[in-house]
Amino acid sequence: MPPSKGSPRVAGGPGPPEPREQVALEDLAGVGATTADKLRESGYTDLMELAVASPGDVAEAAEIGVAIAQKIIGEARRRADVGGFESGAAVLERRKHLGRITTNAKSLDELLGGGVETQAITEFSGEFGTGKTQLGHQIAVDVQLPVAQGGLGGEVVYIDTESTFRPERIVDMARGLGIEPEATLEKIHVARAFNSNHQMLLVQKAQELARERPVRLLVVDSLTSHFRSEYVGRAELAPRQQLLNRHLHELLRFADTYNASIVVTNQVSARPDILFGDPTRPIGGNIVAHAATYRVYLRKSKPPKRIARLIDSPNLPEGEAVFSLTPEGIRE
Ligand SMILES: Nc1ncnc2c1ncn2[C@@H]1O[C@H](COP(=O)(O)OP(=O)(O)O)[C@@H](O)[C@H]1O
Ligand SMILES: [Mg+2]
Repeated sequence: MPPSKGSPRVAGGPGPPEPREQVALEDLAGVGATTADKLRESGYTDLMELAVASPGDVAEAAEIGVAIAQKIIGEARRRADVGGFESGAAVLERRKHLGRITTNAKSLDELLGGGVETQAITEFSGEFGTGKTQLGHQIAVDVQLPVAQGGLGGEVVYIDTESTFRPERIVDMARGLGIEPEATLEKIHVARAFNSNHQMLLVQKAQELARERPVRLLVVDSLTSHFRSEYVGRAELAPRQQLLNRHLHELLRFADTYNASIVVTNQVSARPDILFGDPTRPIGGNIVAHAATYRVYLRKSKPPKRIARLIDSPNLPEGEAVFSLTPEGIRE
């Protein structure tokens, strides 16, 4: 189980997050003002972030020894653990409320175990033009359908980092399903993220919105583009990963609190000059791997077909699905 699963949860579904004990980083034994500042600069702004961090990452961020980092994490865990544990029965109860959103392509739904799951992050990665944005749009329409038709009767927060949200496509897709385009657009709350900080702030704004509206899907298209362009070079790899980690934890918390699905896209590039390591691996690497429950890698096939492959799934067999990008949206 990924470490992120230790975040506080509210059983069931919609409802405000539980209040947390307010402990400053400086209150932890072994954390002075300098260490606290370094930690905050690296994205560890509260105890929960520290509690779920690895000693190596914390040691590097605060420029301290691993043993000390381990002690700090230990104390953060003890003190941040407000509501951190729940009984197996409570987990079962919460999982009874798991929802699924159709992708509108049967084989892709089956690959995902029945559709895009709530209380989880689903990542769609792939090269440019593989259909990541189309999927984000399609799922934003599908979640609005009634449960009997594969939706959750819910609304959407859509965080657009590449200015590729197109209301016209939503209209096409709504028409394709025979639902009212205007009403469909009304239920998609779109925000353009100008940089990675703004992107993270928008998740907090989404929490506010979700207290008032039945938001059941949060799309981040793309999860990584700002992080990638702002943090370049090897020296910035660690801070980038830490911020991305924090962002993903906030997304997971949203998913748990509102029993919502999180769909993120992640572009991979065939150009080896852009990335470190295997250029065809989604960026964020192990960080995204820990947080994302379902990782789907997309590639092109004979147009308009696309092939989706499930990677690194803890509870589903690896497999492939073929779907099509049509003028009306995603189709089998
Ligand atoms: N109106 C449309 N009709 C048919 N296919 C479309 C339409 N709009 C986009 N597409 C398909 O979607 C592809 C772009 O997918 P997109 O989701 O933007 O890629 P990515 O986000 O992975 O870079 C296009 O190459 C085309 O195949
Ligand atoms: Mg795109």
